[in-house]
Amino acid sequence: MAEVVIVTDAEAAGRLAADAILRRFARIDQPVLGVATGSTPLTTYRALASAGADLSGVRCFALDEYVGLPEGHPESYRAVLDREAVEPLGLDPALLAVPDASPATLASAGERYEAAITAAGGVDVQLLGIGTDGHIGFNEPGSSLASRTRVKTLTTQTREDNARFFDSIDQVPLHCLTQGLGTIRDARHLVLLAFGANKAAAVAAAVEGPVSSGVPGSLIQLHPSVTVLVDEAAASELQHADYYRLAYANKPEWQEL
Ligand code: F6R
Repeated sequence: MAEVVIVTDAEAAGRLAADAILRRFARIDQPVLGVATGSTPLTTYRALASAGADLSGVRCFALDEYVGLPEGHPESYRAVLDREAVEPLGLDPALLAVPDASPATLASAGERYEAAITAAGGVDVQLLGIGTDGHIGFNEPGSSLASRTRVKTLTTQTREDNARFFDSIDQVPLHCLTQGLGTIRDARHLVLLAFGANKAAAVAAAVEGPVSSGVPGSLIQLHPSVTVLVDEAAASELQHADYYRLAYANKPEWQEL
């Protein structure tokens, strides 16, 4: 099962996630980080930046990208990652790959992205947020657990949730390119973060509900190496919260996050 760690706030989760990433990367020659966008990973990026580690050789793969935004749009995930991750962390922009949403070559974008991940040796640590509808990446409910990078249609719920980054919901693209659930499952370690009461139902369904394409986040139950970092509000619907606290408080010294 996933290791579930209930922390006081998003800052504490970010510090633990950054620590888990840096400890794993210290043992790897050419580390590969799977990066996410949205609000959730921001404290992890801040903690990584303040750790001051040299991350200039780290190769990064984004989970997803909107389809239909003009190149350079400030809310394209390429632009968001340049702003929130590449610059503050001192990453090499040439080593950040984002699914290529150019209209002319969209049909082959998924296949090309999969090939690039494979050529890089796969993802060592994949950061994940979770949508209020249970999506990870932009794999909306109903996505095949074996899916690979492809074009998906965003749910109205996701577009409403993401409208805060745009002037109105009408400006939120309807389509995206996203790593599939099968792609995410291939990463060697997953770190799923969630903060706030609006994520509580999705977190409980992903961590403790049945594994189902209806809750794409439940994919984590099929993965042997997962850390879930949640604040109290996001943990509030977990049935086994006391057990997770007990396990974490008595965690053996040698067991890594
Ligand atoms: C973003 C992504 C999404 C978000 C999710 C939560 O790259 O893949 O799954 O992680 O929509 O978004 P926030 O963090 O904004 O609540």
